[in-house]
Amino acid sequence: MKNLVISTGAGISAESGISTFRDAGGLWENYDVMEVASHEGFLRNPDLIHRFYNQRRIELTKAKPNAAHLGLVELEKYFNVNVITQNVDNLHERAGSSNVLHLHGELMKVRSLRHEERVYELPCNLLSDKGLETSTHTVDAYGDGVRPHIVFFGEDVPNFEPACRLAAQAHVFVVIGTTLSVYPAAALLRYAPASAQVYYIDPNPASVPSHVHVIAKKATEGVKELIQMLTK
Ligand code: OAD
Repeated sequence: MKNLVISTGAGISAESGISTFRDAGGLWENYDVMEVASHEGFLRNPDLIHRFYNQRRIELTKAKPNAAHLGLVELEKYFNVNVITQNVDNLHERAGSSNVLHLHGELMKVRSLRHEERVYELPCNLLSDKGLETSTHTVDAYGDGVRPHIVFFGEDVPNFEPACRLAAQAHVFVVIGTTLSVYPAAALLRYAPASAQVYYIDPNPASVPSHVHVIAKKATEGVKELIQMLTK
């Protein structure tokens, strides 16, 4: 089977009711990104960051995968599919995607402040707070505080290298629902081989090289069209 690598951003989850970041009404219009999603912001005001991600988790529990997430699962019948996502939601996993690599972390996980390899999936019995909400008082079984398992601006993106290796093996590379404005994620496209077919689904696409086939539609419609093109 050919390798299909799909790089997704906030736009794929928009039709599930999850806010994007930079669209009108997006999260970064209502919150200062440097306060709630940067390393310095976390050092300055960890309470605010816990509250921000607690709200995002509540939002996520109310959301369901949409037809675009499900369409990518259907493509596993025809391709060896790897999804590389900038999203911190778990909608690809809940839709049933087999291979999902998160570039910017995972909302439903927190990790120890002292030992970052100690990662806990929420809800978790090893934490003092056993629900989906955490605070500066939440400790793990070792008595260490925790933080969201999110890549903040100013931090390394440890999954970028494995993502590049996947992109470099793509026969077909698809980008869905991203402004392609955050690096290094936006650079992944450049790692696809010159021989790969490349598609970009977004109702308001960013400018991309001319060899990219742009489908200027919402993710649910665009993925339907993509499936028809790739499987006919
Ligand atoms: P953005 O909010 O920057 O971009 C969302 C993209 O989704 C835009 O290009 C929209 O046109 C598109 N879009 C909106 N509705 C759509 C729909 N129904 N179907 C398809 N596309 C749609 O989100 P990202 O590019 O994902 O990082 O943002 C990248 C990173 O910036 C995020 O991972 C986050 C943020 O800061 C961190 O927090 C580390």
